[in-house]
Amino acid sequence: MASRKPDEASAATVDQLGGRLRPLLALLADGEVHSGESLGEVLGVSRAAVWKQLQKLESLGLQVASEKGRGYRLCGGLDLLDEPAIRGQLARETLPLLGPLRVFDRVDSTNARMLVALETGAGHCEVLLAEQQTAGRGRRGRTWLSPFGAGISISIGWRFSGGVQLLEGLSLAVGVALARALARFDVPDVRLKWPNDVWCRGRKLAGVLLELSGDLTDRCAVVIGIGLNMRLPAAAADTIGQPWIDLAEVRPGISRNALVAAMLDELLPMLASYPESGFAVWREAWQALDQFAGVEVCLQSAQQRWCGIERGVDASGALLLEIDGTCRAFHGGELSLRPAGSSAL
Ligand code: BTN
Repeated sequence: MASRKPDEASAATVDQLGGRLRPLLALLADGEVHSGESLGEVLGVSRAAVWKQLQKLESLGLQVASEKGRGYRLCGGLDLLDEPAIRGQLARETLPLLGPLRVFDRVDSTNARMLVALETGAGHCEVLLAEQQTAGRGRRGRTWLSPFGAGISISIGWRFSGGVQLLEGLSLAVGVALARALARFDVPDVRLKWPNDVWCRGRKLAGVLLELSGDLTDRCAVVIGIGLNMRLPAAAADTIGQPWIDLAEVRPGISRNALVAAMLDELLPMLASYPESGFAVWREAWQALDQFAGVEVCLQSAQQRWCGIERGVDASGALLLEIDGTCRAFHGGELSLRPAGSSAL
């Protein structure tokens, strides 16, 4: 969990796609061939103007194929995020827990935007999503890759009073909620890796970044940022420096909007009750999904490394490591866990 100063987050880059680009994307999203003429007719512009707009799509990293004599096709199609579609799929009990939900076309980082919102007094129960992040933030200063129209990049803002200790173990409970959302789509082999990762088939499927703002001893707020790999284009995927997996490879055809709705159905009730329940009620569920239970692992901080057998977590979410027959508890922060003998995770 990282705490950032608000001014770090204020160099805004928020960008909604201009005039005709969004409608053009919506038309091409089906991945079928559309003639320049029909696109021009629907958009009310000339074929030359359509062609100009198509060039702009390529600058988003999207691939447009031109089929001789037939028209244009968006390679692979697109499954665009849509606020009404998400709201329309939420459970009835979730709706009262949800504030404004906004989908950015392009933004630096949804977490950065949410921190700014929280600083200005807004943000509680709010949800920000992005089709593309240009400076997505990962744990331990890493960047998070979010190409246009791929993956899920979501931030949820939550205010609470009583100090940050009330949120001990929250990132682990978020992991359990995400695993439950994925289970609604029968995604197999989902596991959790302490403290913040969702794994599938031994590789990273999603990551969680919690960021705090406000008075950490009293009234404060948390941003729950989640990034999930889904339909990443091969070129972008090549740049990820760790073993990862794409949801579409495991369970193709899941709608991004349906998945976001399922995530919110699991996450919002959990957040609403967390200050009272704490991690203790999530512990058993987390341990049942623990990727490395009983496995020899190493924990790495910036300066130090500890190796031992992973023995689950305690009631506060601290990792229990058996070192030379004695169990030691390690608290989250900037620690990273990897199986003994492995280098990059
Ligand atoms: C990790 O390093 O595993 C955590 C990745 C968290 C990425 C998400 S994407 C949505 C939100 N906005 C950000 O800038 N980061 C988080």
